Amino acid sequence: MSESQQAEVVVVGGGIIGLAVAWRAQSSGMQVTVLDRDATGRATSHVAAGMLAPVAEVEYGEAGRRVLALGLRSAETWPSFAAELEAAAEQPVGLRRTGTLLLARDEDDARELERQLAFRSSLGLRVERLRPSAARQREPALAPTLRLALEAPDDHSVDPRLVLDALRAACVSAGVVLREHAPVARIEVDGDAGVNAVTLAGGERLAASRVVLAAGPWSSQIDGLPSAARVPVRPVKGQILRLRDPAGPGLLGTVVRYDGGYIVPRGDGRYVLGATVEEQGFAAPPTVGGVYELLRDAGELVPGISELEIEELSVGFRPGTPDNAPVIGAGGVPGLVWATGHHRNGVLLAPLTAEMIVQVLGESPRTDGAVAQLEHVAAQDTFAALLSACSPARFAGGADRPHGESPSTPVGALR
Ligand code: GLY
Repeated sequence: MSESQQAEVVVVGGGIIGLAVAWRAQSSGMQVTVLDRDATGRATSHVAAGMLAPVAEVEYGEAGRRVLALGLRSAETWPSFAAELEAAAEQPVGLRRTGTLLLARDEDDARELERQLAFRSSLGLRVERLRPSAARQREPALAPTLRLALEAPDDHSVDPRLVLDALRAACVSAGVVLREHAPVARIEVDGDAGVNAVTLAGGERLAASRVVLAAGPWSSQIDGLPSAARVPVRPVKGQILRLRDPAGPGLLGTVVRYDGGYIVPRGDGRYVLGATVEEQGFAAPPTVGGVYELLRDAGELVPGISELEIEELSVGFRPGTPDNAPVIGAGGVPGLVWATGHHRNGVLLAPLTAEMIVQVLGESPRTDGAVAQLEHVAAQDTFAALLSACSPARFAGGADRPHGESPSTPVGALR
């Protein structure tokens, strides 16, 4: 077994979460190494559409409220995060402030949308009811059969592939060590002393006193952690299409969301049409049924999509926890920090997750005790309250779940 040099912080996983954490941690003075089993940013984040849509995506239930609180806070952060990242990387990230329209194609959808409006209003969220004629004035490509629309004016989008490029560049220029094709086989734990190294699949041992686990749905597959410290993370399959209008931009300007999917315009004639939500494990092949349903549902609301060219069909795996809320924070063994389980909201929650992890790493160089203390002053500090809401402890040994939620209860309807 070979031993390479010591890293202060090792981040396992070079997706949008891992890279954002690495960039922010390195910029705050830590020496960070990112390990990715493939090229960085080629898994879930590469496939993501980039909706920054906490209001459109809000789910019923207590965990849904937790995700909403995180999402609203992170959405607020996105404009300054994007500006800083663009400056650091000297390249754009494709943040588009278009708002989002939620659409009803028939009477049943319209009744559901009215319910959704009441739910969002009860939470104090900014959503406006639009008559079909007003919605079609905004977006003439919407079908004349449209029954109702809601506008979420603060829900926007970003291009995750541009964000990944920019994060890679910003990480490199800040001094992060990016190690690609470096799969982690084991996290080495030395009893009560906690994490002391990671071992790569090739046998190389990288000494590290702190390890951030940001490997998305693969986070629970890495060996070495005691079972009580493990967080169950499952893959939630999404099939997604990338489309291009040969006639250029203009078909749609706003993100649209409806029962069955969403369309995210990039502003240059390209559109992302997503996405299925499937509990199929890591079943990678796209399916005829999945693609058919995506195109059928989108075509009923935006008939003009039939003219678009298909540039890409891809499959991604969202990381889902038993309550579909993320796990962010120290957990299980000293030195181990979790940053995964973002489910449908990885891109949205990246800036906030990075901020939270940097705080955890900064305030708690090694001990879980300090984090526990941090979490217990939660009442005085919204930020700490958010951290507490994401604690990996809620899954420790299958116990300590917040507010009696069943571990097998998904938060959201699978649309
Ligand atoms: N946030 C959209 C999706 O996960 O499909």
